[in-house]
Amino acid sequence: MCGIVGYVGPRACQELILQGLERLEYRGYDSAGIALLDSEGDVSMVRAVGNLAALRGAADAHTSAATTGLGHTRWATHGKVTEQNAHPHFDMSRQLAVVMNGIIENYVELRAELAGEGIAFSSETDTEVIPHLLSKHYRGDLVQAVREVLPQLQGHYAFVAMHANEPGRLVGARKECPLVVGVGDGERFFGSAIPAFLRETRDIQLVEDGEIVVLEPDSTTILNGANEPVEREIKPVEMDEDAAEKGGHETFMLKEIYEQPDALWDTLGDRLNEDGTVEFAELGMDDAHLARVERIHIVACGTSYHAGLVGRYLIEDWARIPVHIEVASEYRYRTCLAGPGDMVIGITQSGESADTLAAMRVARERGAHVVALTNIMGSQATRDSDGVIFTRAGLEISVAATKTHTAQVMALALLALKLGRLKWALTATGAVEVASDLRAMPDIVRGYLESAAPAQVFEVAGRYFDRPFFLYLGRHVGVPVCFEGALKLKEISYIPTEAYPAGEMKHGPIALLAEGSPVVCVATDGHVFDKVVSNIQEVKARGAEVIAVATEGNQSIEQHVDDVLWVPRTPPLLSPIMANVPLQLFAYAVARAKGLNVDQPRNLAKTVTVE
Ligand code: BG6
Repeated sequence: MCGIVGYVGPRACQELILQGLERLEYRGYDSAGIALLDSEGDVSMVRAVGNLAALRGAADAHTSAATTGLGHTRWATHGKVTEQNAHPHFDMSRQLAVVMNGIIENYVELRAELAGEGIAFSSETDTEVIPHLLSKHYRGDLVQAVREVLPQLQGHYAFVAMHANEPGRLVGARKECPLVVGVGDGERFFGSAIPAFLRETRDIQLVEDGEIVVLEPDSTTILNGANEPVEREIKPVEMDEDAAEKGGHETFMLKEIYEQPDALWDTLGDRLNEDGTVEFAELGMDDAHLARVERIHIVACGTSYHAGLVGRYLIEDWARIPVHIEVASEYRYRTCLAGPGDMVIGITQSGESADTLAAMRVARERGAHVVALTNIMGSQATRDSDGVIFTRAGLEISVAATKTHTAQVMALALLALKLGRLKWALTATGAVEVASDLRAMPDIVRGYLESAAPAQVFEVAGRYFDRPFFLYLGRHVGVPVCFEGALKLKEISYIPTEAYPAGEMKHGPIALLAEGSPVVCVATDGHVFDKVVSNIQEVKARGAEVIAVATEGNQSIEQHVDDVLWVPRTPPLLSPIMANVPLQLFAYAVARAKGLNVDQPRNLAKTVTVE
């Protein structure tokens, strides 16, 4: 959603805050702003519409020596993308500044109440109610004002405030939206995520829901709901700084596509033993409990949902446990039938997607054992669950998910293997075989990325990038792969694209085809290969141009299609880990050929923390 940065300390913080915002830009980038408070109590502010480059352009004209400051990069929810609606927002005296991430659901009532008391609003945002409410309750102590205002706010949010009378102090609060503290030597940072201050410090303090945090250069004071101070340990984070840089690639997306072999290897990590047994340290379920699981529900959004679709095939095939999977935004409002004895897996790379968190909470209230499959330590999902499985893909900055997706499929494969053994659905020999297949995947993907294949994908994409529509088809585990491939193309090239189980195509979508329509078919080896070939013949008969993702060595496909994106041979059930890569590259190459910003596609954000 939006990104927040805050600083108190001895250093002039304008540049620090701008750099922090640049590293959070993946959270939202339609407008941005900073507010700076100097030791004299003067508050200055710069806001700009557009991405951080626009703000930096405006800010560079105002260098300030202030050592207390706030910053915000926006993904609009309430109020158009304008300078007035950009954050920070102020009270009428312009002494109190606030930046927020999230939504204040009762802002209309609060605005009416405040307007009735003579408050003039200068923006259309929900956020602006906070500085006016704080000002109304301000009697010289910003912490007390925050304490009095929190009960009036409904919704989910994280905000940080500062007051001209209190230079060297920032006050923050959170409810279901992320906020983390960075601890430096004689300085403190606020961030919506760790990259905001990763270059300055690796020491963090987590903030829990309902807590108020007061930052001063040499101290962090955390107050719980009862206004009692809470001790919070300072934790070092593993995340490396380079994660926030492009590592020599032209974009974060390409860098992250090439990081997949490491992400797969790290996600396997120390969890898979030679004998095919699997250990999950944070699952919160011992083997006996796991062996009693009779039903699994998977809830997720976007690309994570597509990983869940692959997970269903793996779990049902290896463990013979029925898996129900649903998009989280629907699951949370349907009659939830999950209950004690059921496992509900919430897949969310960011660990902050509001719909997935809400679906996990619904299932947890019904007594199901909820597991978060996430990529981010300390994220909300790790708190709204009974156990966690971490993908270890490292920070993913590009809005279109790639390495976290294949890492999620790898993690689900490990879970399916573990359940398969515990349910005696997989024999000991079978488990050892699956284990060696899984262990081989990272190098298979690495070999592919280091081969001539990616260049061939770019060459093929160069002949299709200007098409007005695409249809993606697949069967069995190829279905989630074509869904994901189509989503990647939609996300970053904006080309209308449909994806369908190939067998379903003749019941409707085939009507979309005309002479020259491009159809991408996932046709890797497996028990449905011949069926996919006959679907290819059906679309060819309607004049379509077919690009197939196919398994090296199976030349028979060439006679049926116009172009082939070859992938190395893998066990069919694991083919999604490999087959996703050429489709990520295809979408990437099409978007680049169209000159589009692949890391910050229009209208999207990396993490959607609102409903
Ligand atoms: C969207 C992102 O906002 O959320 C997608 O643009 C992502 O890339 C989806 O797949 C779900 O996010 P998460 O963090 O819950 O996996």
